[in-house]
Amino acid sequence: MTEDTPTAPKTEQHDPAVPEAYAAFMRTGWDDGPSDVSRHPVADLAAARRQRLADAFPGERLVLPGGGYQVRAFDTDYRFRADTAHAYFSGNHTSDATLVVEPDGSAVLYARPRSGRDSDEFFRDRQYGALWAGKRPSAEELATALGVEVRHVDDLASALGNGTKTRVHRQVSAAVDGLVAADEARDTELARVLSEMRLVKDDWEVGELQSAVDATTLGFEDCVREWDRVIEHGERWLEGTFFRRARTMGNDLGYDSIVANGSHATTLHWIENSGAVVPGELILLDMGVENANLYTADITRTLPVNGRFTTLQRDLYTLVLQAQDAALAALRPGAKFLAGHDAAMVVLAHGLDDLGLLPVPVEEALSPDSRVYARWTLHGTSHMLGMDVHDCGHAAPETYRDADLVEGMVLTVEPGLYFQADDLLVPDELRGIGIRIEDDVVVTADGVRNLSSALPRTPEAIEEWMGDLRG
Ligand code: GLY
Ligand code: MN
Repeated sequence: MTEDTPTAPKTEQHDPAVPEAYAAFMRTGWDDGPSDVSRHPVADLAAARRQRLADAFPGERLVLPGGGYQVRAFDTDYRFRADTAHAYFSGNHTSDATLVVEPDGSAVLYARPRSGRDSDEFFRDRQYGALWAGKRPSAEELATALGVEVRHVDDLASALGNGTKTRVHRQVSAAVDGLVAADEARDTELARVLSEMRLVKDDWEVGELQSAVDATTLGFEDCVREWDRVIEHGERWLEGTFFRRARTMGNDLGYDSIVANGSHATTLHWIENSGAVVPGELILLDMGVENANLYTADITRTLPVNGRFTTLQRDLYTLVLQAQDAALAALRPGAKFLAGHDAAMVVLAHGLDDLGLLPVPVEEALSPDSRVYARWTLHGTSHMLGMDVHDCGHAAPETYRDADLVEGMVLTVEPGLYFQADDLLVPDELRGIGIRIEDDVVVTADGVRNLSSALPRTPEAIEEWMGDLRG
């Protein structure tokens, strides 16, 4: 039995009783002195971002929830990860907080700081109690780190009730969504602007992305160093090996790793990662570390499992590499976002024509009305990269997909060729082969800089790299 009351912290059916003598004893004798917190480097950047955001919506209040815990099973939750827009404009990574930006650019973070010792939460509450889940920052600590006024989240509802025109970043927190009547058009416009303001990265952000890429490079190296065990245990071993690096050097994975041996590579988002790793076949690894400030890498390499490409594998790999080179050469300020994709598709379509696979002449296949070559290329060559792997996803087409590139944008370049195992229109020897090469680039004054150039791309460099790491 527990002594739960409606206001008591949440306990479980299997928890032992909490007699008053125990509770009273627990409330005494703790050192609650101030902790050593310093201002986070993102604090000044976030303040400037909030001012620009407020300027985009004169006279309006903007509400950006960070979200809360998501149940995985019964009373166990997924590890918390703050919503990207919330984190970008506040710097806050704690759960259950909401940023409110006022028309003049001033802001309050409504947060759930750690409770005092006068409440039993700290030793009884599994989600928020310091002794169960770890010590949350106090309101003062959050305010110092983030340079923003902090109030308790319980005060949010009354703060939103004074009649100021208000927009909410929806579908992050059902509780916050319920506090303000929805206006779909206006709220969608807010989501669009929150994405579009993140399209161009500042120098600090490019440094963060480079750190995520560098950790990812180490994760790929870890994987190849363990190749004997990879072959023994299969795709799962690679997933676990990379995850260890992501947790050691970053916050987490930026997305579920894709570890795809042989024909699994023709499933674009193969995240089951349950198969064998088979000498003689290719293996596609699409993995990215999310760093401590929530910026993620997104890198793909396709490797020959036994360390050497066969002639057919090398020829197909080289075709994808040439497509990637063409895409990289097409990207610069003023070029269309899709210029890289278009350049890559010209190379791949001609390669597919050389293989005798296209049902129509190659120029016809490349026309916007046809695109039949895409049966084997399947996806776009680039997407924006940042705090979300598919960053800025609510941006309008005219600012993203149909727009010109601008210095400071960060995007992936990732052409691929995929021959499904059950594709009757390709020769037997091609069936079940999937190849993708993916790098992360920042647009510079006159082209792009490859943030992931430390990982080999050519067949020769990959073979040498694998040989060196495997010893
Ligand atoms: N790396 C996964 C994707 O871009 O969809
Ligand atoms: Mn990608």
